[in-house]
Amino acid sequence: MAVLPIKTYPDPCLSQACRQVEVVDDDLRRLASDMLETMYAAPGVGLAAPQVGSDLRLVVIDCANRDDDPAPMVLVNPRIVEAEGSLVFDEGCLSVPDLTCDVTRHERVVVEALDAQGRPLRLEGVGLLAVCLQHELDHLDGRLFIDRISPLKRALYKKRRVKQLKRDEA
Ligand code: NI
Repeated sequence: MAVLPIKTYPDPCLSQACRQVEVVDDDLRRLASDMLETMYAAPGVGLAAPQVGSDLRLVVIDCANRDDDPAPMVLVNPRIVEAEGSLVFDEGCLSVPDLTCDVTRHERVVVEALDAQGRPLRLEGVGLLAVCLQHELDHLDGRLFIDRISPLKRALYKKRRVKQLKRDEA
């Protein structure tokens, strides 16, 4: 396993739509393991393949409480099949440094996907897990949480980020 570098905004990888995984094989399982290790090292509660430069529909999630045992989940080709309610959550993203913002999401979602062995799974998420699932699945369509905040807030962040990157380069 390896900790992979995380792509950050405005890297073009983050705005690309990902493609379906055709075969769940050892290469894919290796990528999923590396993504989990990268997520835990960050630390974060979810990571999507484009955040490490892959264009596959693959996400990893662990929304367990800090005091509980780890509960890693690998979701291949995930899709939302049920969604209801609404909730506002202060979101952040490993690919969007130095920003958290309120985002409105569904309060409950049901996701169908394949697991790391290629077996179909169905997963219900309420609250934090629902938010996390929607946030990570958005990544697979090239969407970041800042695409769901006000245009003004997004523009301000973009400006700040460009300035910061220029400063880092200098
Ligand atoms: Ni994210």
